[in-house]
Amino acid sequence: MDTVRIFDTTLRDGEQSPGVALSTQEKLAIAEQLARLGVDYLEAGFPQASLGDFEAVSRIAQSIKGPTITALARCSRQDVERAAMALEKADKARIHVFIATSPIHMKAKLRMTPDEVLEKISTTVRLARTYVDDVEFSCEDATRSQLNFLIQAGKLAVEAGATTLNFPDTVGYTTPREYYQLITSLRQSIPDPKITLSVHCHDDLGLAVANSLAGIEAGCRQVEVAVNGIGERAGNASLEEVVMTLTAREDQYQVQHHINTHEIYRASQLVSQLSGMVVQPNKAIVGKNAFRHESGIHQDGMLKDRSTYEILTPEDVGWGVTKLVLGKHSGRHALRQRLEDLGLHATAGQIDQIQQRVKALGELKNDINDQDLEAIWQEEVGQERRSRSTELIRWQVSTGSDNRPVAFVSVKVGQDIKEDSGSGDGPVHALFQAFTRALSLEPVELTAYHLAPISPGEAGLAAVRIEIHGYGCETRGQAADSDVMKATVVALHEALSYLFDRVQNHVA
Ligand code: KIV
Ligand code: ZN
Repeated sequence: MDTVRIFDTTLRDGEQSPGVALSTQEKLAIAEQLARLGVDYLEAGFPQASLGDFEAVSRIAQSIKGPTITALARCSRQDVERAAMALEKADKARIHVFIATSPIHMKAKLRMTPDEVLEKISTTVRLARTYVDDVEFSCEDATRSQLNFLIQAGKLAVEAGATTLNFPDTVGYTTPREYYQLITSLRQSIPDPKITLSVHCHDDLGLAVANSLAGIEAGCRQVEVAVNGIGERAGNASLEEVVMTLTAREDQYQVQHHINTHEIYRASQLVSQLSGMVVQPNKAIVGKNAFRHESGIHQDGMLKDRSTYEILTPEDVGWGVTKLVLGKHSGRHALRQRLEDLGLHATAGQIDQIQQRVKALGELKNDINDQDLEAIWQEEVGQERRSRSTELIRWQVSTGSDNRPVAFVSVKVGQDIKEDSGSGDGPVHALFQAFTRALSLEPVELTAYHLAPISPGEAGLAAVRIEIHGYGCETRGQAADSDVMKATVVALHEALSYLFDRVQNHVA
């Protein structure tokens, strides 16, 4: 049976999701989990895009073993050189070169003639091959490109040394039948058995998974996916849906893969926690309702024989096997070990901080699980967005049936104490007003506030995520605590003090 290679782009296309900005530490934690999951290719980022991207790709290349680490590059010398530099320490490296091939993209975006685009493909793929043996070439917006041009582009890329050809449905426009036909025609026209054909589908019409599977049926042996389907706009094809369809319906697809499906649930939870992209309850495979049976008829069937209503078991994807790991008496060694097992690295000082938080939470509940630990780790280690120049000293908020909510905050900036109060329609609004006044941040807008439980029970942790718009940028704050107001204050402080630093440094 053929093997379909799983190319994960959670850290590149997934990270391009609006509102997502992962720190290097967070990317490393996700990369470790992707390696554990068994992805064949791990697209770690786009090194030329920013210093942060470059650093993250280099760190992943240096420390993650197993998958081939991939870096994205446009058809430009600088991009390829930067990608190659970031991948220097990887055991196995791939450069992923792309350029748009559709008439609309070439004319309106690139302002290049088709001949100029073909010339770029040859020179850039050739350059990439001087650095690595494994080069993927993608025709961006392939599904709105002319077939003959795709064939020309693909052949030139192969002549220049590309080993994988990818035909993305960049704007989520194609349909399964159309994509099947496109890939079939491309396979017939570029029949080199050494070249792997690949699919990369976006979900604008909700067809990303169906289209990816159609591509596999037509002979693609690489599929590009992201955990939880995150990615540009409506996202990418979801890793868990593609993989579990290939697994559950092997009879139809007749291909195998290298994914350890028992690691899927943890990957989903980790990506959701660190990216702040909440998984919808009815999401296939990993949503909280994915294995729940509500109606009496279904429950009756399940009790008699699970396979009446279950085509996959929760165990198949590692669902619900979060381990009860720690309590207030857990020692430092157990904590450090569990963090290491989860791929959550921390320095000695950070472990002390995490231990204090675990002990405090352990006073409230005695079953601290992996998700609690991930949330605490994220706050103490993962987030690099924290303000270095402000410190939250005190806060207070009051609300009730008879008074308008009021809040007070006190923040230390250098040697100065900045404090103020505010009132609002609710306690969050009042706190927001108090912070913006204390830090003299005007005008800023609280554009989103999300509250979601991390662990069950009255004393369970809840995650607060907020988004703030001001001074021409979007910023995020995120915190977890069993006290929802405390989590709100920490998240507001994180986002607003980040903005404060930018204003002080005249970056905004
Ligand atoms: O959607 C797309 O076309 C891409 C390419 C860069 C592969 O993400
Ligand atoms: Zn994409």
